[in-house]
Amino acid sequence: MSDQLYILDTTLRDGEQVPGCQLNTVEKIEVARMLERLHVDVIEAGFPVSSPGDFRSIVEISKVVREPVICALARAVEQDIDVAAESLQHASRKRIHTGIGTSFYHIAYKFHTTEEEILERAVACVKYARRHVEDVEFYAEDAGRTDNEFLARVVEAVIKVGASVVNIPDTTGFCLPDQYGAKIRYLMEHVPNIHRAVISTHCHNDLGMATANSIQGVMNGARQVEVALNGLGERAGNAALEEVVMAVQCHSDLPVFTTVRTRHIMRASRLASTLMQMPVQPNKAVVGRNAFAHSSGIHQDGIIKNRESYEIFRPEDIGLHDVSMVLTARSGRAALKHHYAGMGLNIDKELLDEVYERFLVLADKKKEVTDEDLYVLLGVEQSAKHRRIQLDYLQLNCGKSVVPEAVIALIIDGEKHTATAYGSGPVDAAFNAVKQIIHPKVVLEEFLIQAITRGSDDMGKVHVQIAYKGRHYYGFSADTDVVTASTEAFIDAISKII
Ligand code: KIV
Ligand code: ZN
Repeated sequence: MSDQLYILDTTLRDGEQVPGCQLNTVEKIEVARMLERLHVDVIEAGFPVSSPGDFRSIVEISKVVREPVICALARAVEQDIDVAAESLQHASRKRIHTGIGTSFYHIAYKFHTTEEEILERAVACVKYARRHVEDVEFYAEDAGRTDNEFLARVVEAVIKVGASVVNIPDTTGFCLPDQYGAKIRYLMEHVPNIHRAVISTHCHNDLGMATANSIQGVMNGARQVEVALNGLGERAGNAALEEVVMAVQCHSDLPVFTTVRTRHIMRASRLASTLMQMPVQPNKAVVGRNAFAHSSGIHQDGIIKNRESYEIFRPEDIGLHDVSMVLTARSGRAALKHHYAGMGLNIDKELLDEVYERFLVLADKKKEVTDEDLYVLLGVEQSAKHRRIQLDYLQLNCGKSVVPEAVIALIIDGEKHTATAYGSGPVDAAFNAVKQIIHPKVVLEEFLIQAITRGSDDMGKVHVQIAYKGRHYYGFSADTDVVTASTEAFIDAISKII
């Protein structure tokens, strides 16, 4: 029987370190939600001590992404580990990923120290992290160039003090596949307590070996792979999620399986590429524009006779078949339902009817409704539908030289309540009006607003966090009118109090 291969996605940490790829909090939440849909096991959400923005993003991701483990990176430094633990405070499943360099280069030139001291610091950081969380992953940075005997001593010692996962990074992408595989095998054979932890690969692509090295690691005993969408990551990048996952899927002789929902791969790849402004090279394995483009006559002839002559998996396995389908105001319910099905979401007739109404409103305002819009429409519809408080009416009076005023009507348990309020801007006025009706002592703690894609016809997405009687509540909404989206998100959060 084959084992589960755990997928740790580091797009939001190693991938986001790439110059020009930085994302804001709302964009990171977007990617994290997509990774949750993709069904990765662990999301490495950032390096929280590195910046307040990274810290905040991990906090926010932890609140909304509940299924995968949320992982925060920390050096072998107590303050890093404290900050990582704090950033994970809301996570339903959390992991701290801490570690230190173990190769000669790191010991001699980076730390100016000895192997013994590195060993002590490795043990100390795992022990310290275990005081905060149960699940601690240790990384031996530059393990690819670390002497195997010393590496084995480090791995044994950190497992002894409670590391549940041990990461063997080929930080510089130096190893050849058989060298990396042999390193993992050496650890499997020489570390007596190795079966008490999961061994993880983290392969960089400096020589174009990242996917091959990861697979070799797996063939020799690793049961977690650290990967990033489109192979994003430091320098030449990390092993690409889509390549490793599809290699496992195509080779049933490998001793592992993943639970990744591969039909979301194409969308996840596009989302990362768009938000991080990092185009995917046309001949990129699995997700490149040309990955299924057969141009030579001989190949086209073969494909027509039998696709398997030249394709090792079907385009639809990665969700390619309907990515290009365009939904507009002229699309019918059937097209919308089909599109949702392609996204892996089977919605019943009642929900379809409700979402379709919102879809038409949106499609009237936008030239093209994207997958992201559709996810948002469905999410908003589902959460709004079950709320006891509904926004019935919102009218604003604002502009230059006008004191912003909002008139609002809420339906609470079927009963209509109205209020008028002023504020420093239209959103403030609308929030004040809501507070006049319900929960005046609510404090707005976070307010994030962002357009999904680009145009002025775009939907604005709003995340809010409020505090009430010492507890925090979180709300979300989206609309082409950002004041309506903000008010709906505020109501969404307030609804959770009751
Ligand atoms: O490449 C690397 O060694 C890393 C570690 C911080 C895990 O990214
Ligand atoms: Zn790395």
